[in-house]
Amino acid sequence: MENLMDKIVSLCKRRGFIFQSSDIYGGLSNTWDYGPFGVELKNNVKRAWWRSVVYERSDVLGMDAAILMHPKVWEASGHTKSFTDSVVDCKSCKKRFRTDALIYQSHEEYQCPECKATIDIKEMPPRMFSLMLESHLGPVKDEASLVYLRPETAQGMFVNFSNILDSKHPKLPFGLAQIGKAFRNEITPGNFTFRTREFEQMEIEYFVSPKEADKKLAEWIQARFNWYIHLGIKKENLRKRPHTKDELAHYALACTDIEYNFPFGWSELEGIANRTDFDLKQHSQASGKDLKYFDERTKERFYPYIIEPSGGVDRSVLAFLVDAYREEKVKDDIRVVLSLDKDLAPIKVAVLPLLKNRSEIVELAQRIAQDLKKTFITVYDDTAAIGKLYRRQDEVGTLYCVTVDVQSLEDKQVTVRDRDTMKQDRIGIDKLKEYLQNKLT
Ligand code: GAP
Repeated sequence: MENLMDKIVSLCKRRGFIFQSSDIYGGLSNTWDYGPFGVELKNNVKRAWWRSVVYERSDVLGMDAAILMHPKVWEASGHTKSFTDSVVDCKSCKKRFRTDALIYQSHEEYQCPECKATIDIKEMPPRMFSLMLESHLGPVKDEASLVYLRPETAQGMFVNFSNILDSKHPKLPFGLAQIGKAFRNEITPGNFTFRTREFEQMEIEYFVSPKEADKKLAEWIQARFNWYIHLGIKKENLRKRPHTKDELAHYALACTDIEYNFPFGWSELEGIANRTDFDLKQHSQASGKDLKYFDERTKERFYPYIIEPSGGVDRSVLAFLVDAYREEKVKDDIRVVLSLDKDLAPIKVAVLPLLKNRSEIVELAQRIAQDLKKTFITVYDDTAAIGKLYRRQDEVGTLYCVTVDVQSLEDKQVTVRDRDTMKQDRIGIDKLKEYLQNKLT
């Protein structure tokens, strides 16, 4: 039996959501390209996040920092020293694994997760492996030209803290929000787009008085949890998992992950951490620029604490796809539906002529599609029989199918079919936009 993950990967390729990168060259492993439907879904996820954390709040400002940053940023942040994974090489299969992926046998002996050979860690001790991806700027490739592709978008917000204070004068508590690419030389990427070396993050750095940190951390955990539910993730597939002390990142005092029940098990979608004043202190010391905040009310100068909700765009997209996927028996057929939320569905409306050999029907359908395109993301399709056209739209999550038939030429009405219920309404063409607007907004 094909498992759910295989079905999702296959649907993504077949219908133009996600392709293997550099496919015609045999593919670059664990690297993925988003196709026409994929980019729409991904943009919709980013838009929904931005709307919820920037536009619908009055205490968060957006920004977009460069991927390349001064190398000193990564020394100050602790990444060059501490952003590492502990790895072990297996002598038998010659593969490299994260130490925590080995199967425990005894204090000194572990089993290789791939070939099952015994690994003696006295003989083959774990080594620290940097996850930072390096590049060089300019014509000479030496130490002085070394730069890193950022492993998180967060630092771009910390180093702009004083620019934001000087230009926008926000009062605590306030946050910065950013969406952008991040890169990590992961040792064990995999599970489709779940863990890759190039990915996109949606991060908020929320600056608070240290006294308020615990309260704001709890509020953000709940707000971010609700965001996924609001966009259709089933409650039973989402949970909060506080980190144990030994899994906290080097900068964090506390962290709670929001996890999704993926087909490969409960895994992190987003982490919400209390980063304390670690980052602003480190950058103050390393840059010589005072990054303390002056509270005019209490006349105190201090380093704010930072609450950081940090999520992955690609992981969210994957969770929304998995959660929306459903198969239904309809008569003798299996209907595959992506029940994506209306804000996330790549296509909102499809206009379909019932008979493609009747030019008046085709012309009317094309005219309706052209008109709807001004208001909704709309497609026109006449390349198959109506049953097949419906299935195609169901599979990519299109919310409404508008069918133009012979009767439409006379009564100036069309049939509107709902993706989830398959219920059909007969609507006057002059009322169609208003009808769809009511459903979609
Ligand atoms: N600034 C904090 C930070 O980067 P993180 O837990 O390492 O924290 C935050 O990453 C989010 O970024 C994760 O919850 C995940 O959604 C996403 N992410 C991290 N590494 C990833 C990878 N290799 N592939 C895809 N997404 C990743």
